[in-house]
Amino acid sequence: MSWGMNNRLANLFNPQSGKTIFFAVDHGYFMGPTTGLKQLDKVINPLLPYMDALMLTRGALRQYVPTDMRVPIVLRVSGGTSILNKNLLHEGITVSMEDAIRLNAAAVAFSILVGAEFERDTLLGFTQVVNEAERYGIPVLAVTAVGKGLGKDARYLSLASRIAAELGARMVKTYYCDDFEHVVSSCPVPVVIAGGKKIPELDALTMARNAIQAGAVGVDMGRNIFQSENPVAMMQAVAAVVHKNVSVQEAFDLFNELKNH
Ligand code: 5RP
Repeated sequence: MSWGMNNRLANLFNPQSGKTIFFAVDHGYFMGPTTGLKQLDKVINPLLPYMDALMLTRGALRQYVPTDMRVPIVLRVSGGTSILNKNLLHEGITVSMEDAIRLNAAAVAFSILVGAEFERDTLLGFTQVVNEAERYGIPVLAVTAVGKGLGKDARYLSLASRIAAELGARMVKTYYCDDFEHVVSSCPVPVVIAGGKKIPELDALTMARNAIQAGAVGVDMGRNIFQSENPVAMMQAVAAVVHKNVSVQEAFDLFNELKNH
């Protein structure tokens, strides 16, 4: 790998723990002003000290993030459908590599949809991004989803994650599932978990800890942080799980202590 690729990847991780928290606020490209993301600058700024990377879209970066911000950017470069479309996640390339470089992206993120009838489109779009990103030493994060009705179990998520890695992903984001060890052990690049829909804080912390214990290198969490009753408290509780390997109860106690102050 080039010096630049190694440096960009290294900057995505906490040097002490070797793990990472991507704070994901890229949802607007298909969900619009979803709950908790209406005033994105007010969401992001108080959380900047606790995240290892910020995952968002080109427009959100330009409009909501100050240029002196020092957290690495994971730039969403796929899109093309909205929540109104029955073929949600039939995504293509929405940002050129030239613009990603101009925006100083530390990595770019592209969604593939394995198992959908249009999987080929998403996989070829993904590989086009990989081919261009590799020319400039920029890692590509594959965001894996699984076609409707295929379930989010280890069999399918390991399929999607391994396909992404074989096609050139430098990191993979997928969902946590039972037997997650199988997903991690069959994927040759680092795996982070998406938080998914908002669930109780205790359950989200349990999921994060289980994923780390199963070999994930971190989380790419959005809704379970910005839709929490106290996002700063929740982010710090997630960071305690990811970076300090604390128990779920300790993390939940920290959340409750911080949210009350
Ligand atoms: C949306 C995404 C998000 O980055 C990813 O799902 C993480 O966010 P959340 O924790 O809210 O699921 O890829 O398409």
